[in-house]
Amino acid sequence: MFADIIITNASSIATCKDSQEGAGIIEKGYVAVKDGIILEVKAGSPAEELIGSSTVIIDAVGKTVTPGLVDAHTHLVHGGSREKELALKLKGVPYLDILKMGGGILSTVKNTRSATKEQLKAKAAKSLKEMLLNGTTTVEAKSGYGLDFDTEIKCLEAAQELNAEQPVDIVSTYMGAHAIPEEFKGNAQGYMNFMFEKVMPYVADKKLAEFVDVFCEEGVFSPEEARLIMQKAKDLGFKLKIHADEIVPLQGAEVAAEMGAVSADHLLAASDKGIEDMARTGVTAVALPGTSFYLMLGKYAQARKMLDAGVRVAIATDYNPGTSPTESLQTVMAFACFGMRLTPEEIIKAMTLNAAYAVNRQNEIGSIEKGKKADLVVFDAPNIDYVVYHYGINHVDTVIKNGNIVVRNRQLYKEEK
Ligand code: NIG
Ligand code: FE
Repeated sequence: MFADIIITNASSIATCKDSQEGAGIIEKGYVAVKDGIILEVKAGSPAEELIGSSTVIIDAVGKTVTPGLVDAHTHLVHGGSREKELALKLKGVPYLDILKMGGGILSTVKNTRSATKEQLKAKAAKSLKEMLLNGTTTVEAKSGYGLDFDTEIKCLEAAQELNAEQPVDIVSTYMGAHAIPEEFKGNAQGYMNFMFEKVMPYVADKKLAEFVDVFCEEGVFSPEEARLIMQKAKDLGFKLKIHADEIVPLQGAEVAAEMGAVSADHLLAASDKGIEDMARTGVTAVALPGTSFYLMLGKYAQARKMLDAGVRVAIATDYNPGTSPTESLQTVMAFACFGMRLTPEEIIKAMTLNAAYAVNRQNEIGSIEKGKKADLVVFDAPNIDYVVYHYGINHVDTVIKNGNIVVRNRQLYKEEK
């Protein structure tokens, strides 16, 4: 059988297979793709029988091949930006105080409410293009900057339409429980009732989201409220995520385990018991070291401790206008290494297979193995260590999505006719 595409002569292939040590590195090998699916990944050179007259050969000499990167936590669709908060942050005003003053998330809510769906889509499309050029082929996208019915639906529809209009796959999450909007100030229960009665059934019915996420934090949603929201979400057939133990320790990791969440995210202040609970129940921990860096928290999630405890650890950008204004997983690799002290092999696995687990796509994407989707990245670097070490630039040369070349020579690829 002829392959459609063969990436050959790769200096290193990080397969990121579950069953293998580290990132399952193959030195000097090739990957063959047929009908959008990975046909073979092996050391050495491809057999003659694989190469037909229409097979596209990508010479990856001196380069590294990885699975397409999976960004398992972003707030992709939103209006405006928050660079004005930098001055306050530099003066030392804490994140939760800016939120209390009506800034933070709530200022993005204003900008998101006043934007049209087309404006939101145009901004998010720009981010998706940046992500693709930087190697991201699947992204989780949360709503949560609308809070009212119309704006939440507008954002979820924007994500759904973008999913169909460009190459990056979008996994949608409804996150009405991101903040309590001004119109329900002091009335968390009223806002929850509104989500339960008006928004969540509609989102479920129209299949606008696969996950529901809750910001469980002091001054936002308490663990008790998070449980109620998660239970309602479960009853409606959503899978669960939780922003847990980001700033104040509230036993969010324990709530994630108890409620059967697919992932618990942030986790800087997770307790030892919470870490054990996640390991026992198979909750994927999503660490967001770019956020720790940007908020100048002086600490990171204890990813090493979690790995040692047997927790599957994913790493994502948390791309959002307030706490992590970057689309680049490669930038976040540096924080994961120099902040959390993870190895490059641990980091690439955390941004591929483990991230696929965090969005419940582990059977289709996240590793280079026969039968999985052909989502692949070629880095212009001899090994994955080099990508992490030479930080601050984009090393992505080529991206293949669903078996199609979408980035070539560092640029969006248009097939010549
Ligand atoms: O994941 N922590 C809550 N939500 C976002 C930040 C939202 C914002 O500040 O706009 C986060 O960090
Ligand atoms: Fe977040």
